[in-house]
Amino acid sequence: MNLADSTAVVTGSSSGIGLAICRALLDAGASVFGLSRRETPIAHERFRWLKTDVTVEAEIDQAFEAVFAESGRIDLLVNNAGIGFFRDIESIDPVEWRRLIDTNLTAMFLCTRKVVPSMKAAGRGMIVNIGSVAGKRGIRGGTAYCASKFAVNGFSESLMEELRGFGIRVSCINPGSVMTEFFDHAGIEPKKHMQSDDLAQLIVSLVALPDGMLPDEMTVRPL
Ligand SMILES: NC(=O)c1ccc[n+]([C@@H]2O[C@H](COP(=O)([O-])OP(=O)(O)OC[C@H]3O[C@@H](n4cnc5c(N)ncnc54)[C@H](OP(=O)(O)O)[C@@H]3O)[C@@H](O)[C@H]2O)c1
Repeated sequence: MNLADSTAVVTGSSSGIGLAICRALLDAGASVFGLSRRETPIAHERFRWLKTDVTVEAEIDQAFEAVFAESGRIDLLVNNAGIGFFRDIESIDPVEWRRLIDTNLTAMFLCTRKVVPSMKAAGRGMIVNIGSVAGKRGIRGGTAYCASKFAVNGFSESLMEELRGFGIRVSCINPGSVMTEFFDHAGIEPKKHMQSDDLAQLIVSLVALPDGMLPDEMTVRPL
């Protein structure tokens, strides 16, 4: 995809990986809409923050209406918003479980269904879903988080098969540890970690590949 003059939507833009992806997309020439609850700290003429709680369907509807009204199209959706915690199953409250699934999985479905019709009409577009290595193998304490990220992988692979015939590329990126605010609440400490700017560069380079190439899945770990 030629990112210059493209329009991208990134969920979870206020910190960490999402913030780094927004910056890398802006550097590559895209116009970027960032969705998050807290303000996204980017001042750039091609960036607009839309205050959105992705667990609230009406707020997602409002945000995508605003993007389409302003830009007329969406070439790239990055489903990045996510939360995580690692605890024994007895100490996971059902409310927390539902909030995690709503944020990591259901929001991905709700945002994706907003962009697919116009991408199909255009015969092109790309959807990048942020999974995790925790979506490839179970981790002690990770019943909720791993379940959500395994589901993100299943959602992404199915969506990839569904949309590739329409010229729409779907990629699932499964990172290992990246040092972000995620670990302020996760209840675990990574032994090694990557930098969010480096991961963002990788993701933007995959998006920038020629439209005929479909990088459907990538796992990337700290060395
Ligand atoms: N850090 C890692 O090691 C790692 C590894 C693999 C995968 N991941 C995944 O990478 C993604 C980004 O995580 P991160 O590491 O960058 O963590 P982070 O710094 O905590 O960022 C999480 C982002 O998600 C947003 N978010 C959370 N709940 C939201 C909601 N209800 N509505 C809207 N936005 C919401 C946050 O924005 P607000 O709080 O402002 O709403 C924030 O911008 C997540 O999907 C995470 O699972 C992270």
